[in-house]
Amino acid sequence: MEKEERKQLRAFLKDHIRKSVDFTQTDQSLGYPAPSPAKKIPEESTLIDLPTALDKPDYQIPLSKAISRRQSHRKYLKEPLTLEDVSFLLWASHGVRAKSAGHFLRTVPSAGNRHALETYLAVLNVKGLEPGIYRYHFPTHQLVLAFQNKKLGNKLERAALKQSFAGRGSLTFIWTALPYRMEWRYGEASYKVIAIDAGHVCQNLYLACEAVHAGACAIAAYEQDYADQLLGVDGEDEFVVYMASVGKVKESCPD
Ligand SMILES: Cc1cc2nc3c(=O)[nH]c(=O)nc-3n(C[C@H](O)[C@H](O)[C@H](O)COP(=O)(O)O)c2cc1C
Repeated sequence: MEKEERKQLRAFLKDHIRKSVDFTQTDQSLGYPAPSPAKKIPEESTLIDLPTALDKPDYQIPLSKAISRRQSHRKYLKEPLTLEDVSFLLWASHGVRAKSAGHFLRTVPSAGNRHALETYLAVLNVKGLEPGIYRYHFPTHQLVLAFQNKKLGNKLERAALKQSFAGRGSLTFIWTALPYRMEWRYGEASYKVIAIDAGHVCQNLYLACEAVHAGACAIAAYEQDYADQLLGVDGEDEFVVYMASVGKVKESCPD
């Protein structure tokens, strides 16, 4: 890589860009309406209510245990996750913890509380859910069925650049970004914080997995266009930024 190219790419990690943003000219300052914090549910969608009893005694494990046991898991048991497990993982990684002055406060932090990410699930083997692609509608803690598909394993493996574990878990989380939610307030200074936000979501998923005897593996190496097409997103205003496979694991699974 040429020195100049490297310099330009590294600039993404820095915050010089903030000084160049004219915050009087952002869409928020210009009075444009705030983008919705959640995607609309298409008419006649199939909605799945997720169990809301998230305080099951089984899920109450010490935080120190969750942190010390957290590791990336790429080998999963055949045992399915339950809908309760999935509900807990969604809440912990991207759910709502409170509502204040009409704004959702989430279980993960986000720059300016803008939350430019959406969570999708590619369900392979979950008790109580047909295999297929779903979107998490966090305001009502429901899943919106995008489409059923019993043969997602191979597609997920392909989406993850032939990383076979991506199609062998119980489900794979796929996170998209809708950058305008952040751009509306932060303009050109939006992109790094969206990436940071994705890290928080995935870390909460890893920790929550410890409470449901599951393991996760983050996936940032994926085929962009294929992954976007798999979800049916346009690749411009919404596109995949991160994934994580999840499955039940043995208590002392080394990998
Ligand atoms: C941003 C990010 C991207 C990652 N992408 C992949 C990936 O595409 N494939 C993979 O097998 N592991 C991936 N991992 C998992 C790392 O390889 C793993 O976290 C690292 O080896 C440390 O192991 P540990 O998580 O068990 O502590 C990723 C982790 C992070 C945080």
